[in-house]
Amino acid sequence: MSTPEVLETLAVADWSGPFEPDVQARAADALEAGKVLVLPRLEFQFEPCETGFLDPSVAGGDRKNISLEPGATTCNAAALEPAQSERLAALMRRFADQAEALVEGLIPAYRGRLERARTSFRPVEIAGRIYSPRHDDRRLHVDAFPTRPMRGKRILRVFSNVARDGAARDWRVGEPFEAFAEKFMPQVRRPMPGGAWVLAGLGLTKGRRAPYDELMLALHDTSKLDEAYQADAPKTPVAFAAGTTWLCYTDQVLHAALSGHSALEQTFHLPVDAMLHPDRSPLRVLERITGKVLA
Ligand code: SIN
Ligand code: FE
Repeated sequence: MSTPEVLETLAVADWSGPFEPDVQARAADALEAGKVLVLPRLEFQFEPCETGFLDPSVAGGDRKNISLEPGATTCNAAALEPAQSERLAALMRRFADQAEALVEGLIPAYRGRLERARTSFRPVEIAGRIYSPRHDDRRLHVDAFPTRPMRGKRILRVFSNVARDGAARDWRVGEPFEAFAEKFMPQVRRPMPGGAWVLAGLGLTKGRRAPYDELMLALHDTSKLDEAYQADAPKTPVAFAAGTTWLCYTDQVLHAALSGHSALEQTFHLPVDAMLHPDRSPLRVLERITGKVLA
């Protein structure tokens, strides 16, 4: 696949618009079609007094990411004093607010339906880390999280490369979701009957997994563990330059993050019926393939 097929690049230079109707239409169509929307002119600004947070040791210990839950006033940056942690949390909340204004400005139909989830700050270099294959996001995957059932809801993520040394964030973007799902579905194992209910009852998941979640987790794991797929699957290298913002549905876009440091990320959840084209959602694609209602 060539780069233009997986990316849509827009000259947006303002977090909150207002955006022209043709820009809005291109943004919505590209995102829901499973492309990455790239905004090379949209930079997240650090205040001069905030640049110290870009030191990778801010995460503390073995931690790679710092996260902020919606509504929280401190983040889990173990290496910071409480007052500093609050300042970093304020920076992350500013990013979250701007990311939300951006998505709602680009796709007004999502307004009031978009649910703000976690914000993360990723100061540590990706390359050279040691992971188990299942946890290694340098392998192509779609996002699915064992403890957070989505029950069909979408995962939309906004990223900004805030590196001050000019380092790009290097991704690979894979094949369209439907082709990927068709390929792996025959290998995906059946979930244990009653298993979702037990996990929720034990507090191991935030709410009960739907059959959709079981399938997405199985697709995530099976594809990450498939060495031949990882080596040979179609993939397009994409380098997000420092100062760039990009967004995509990471439950749909096959992606791998190979290298880079200093990124901010905001996650949103969106009900499938809030989409302009719900039939393009992984839920509907998997329901078509399996012939079953999955959430
Ligand atoms: C991922 O979602 O797999 C990681 C993306 C990134 O940190 O660039
Ligand atoms: Fe991911």
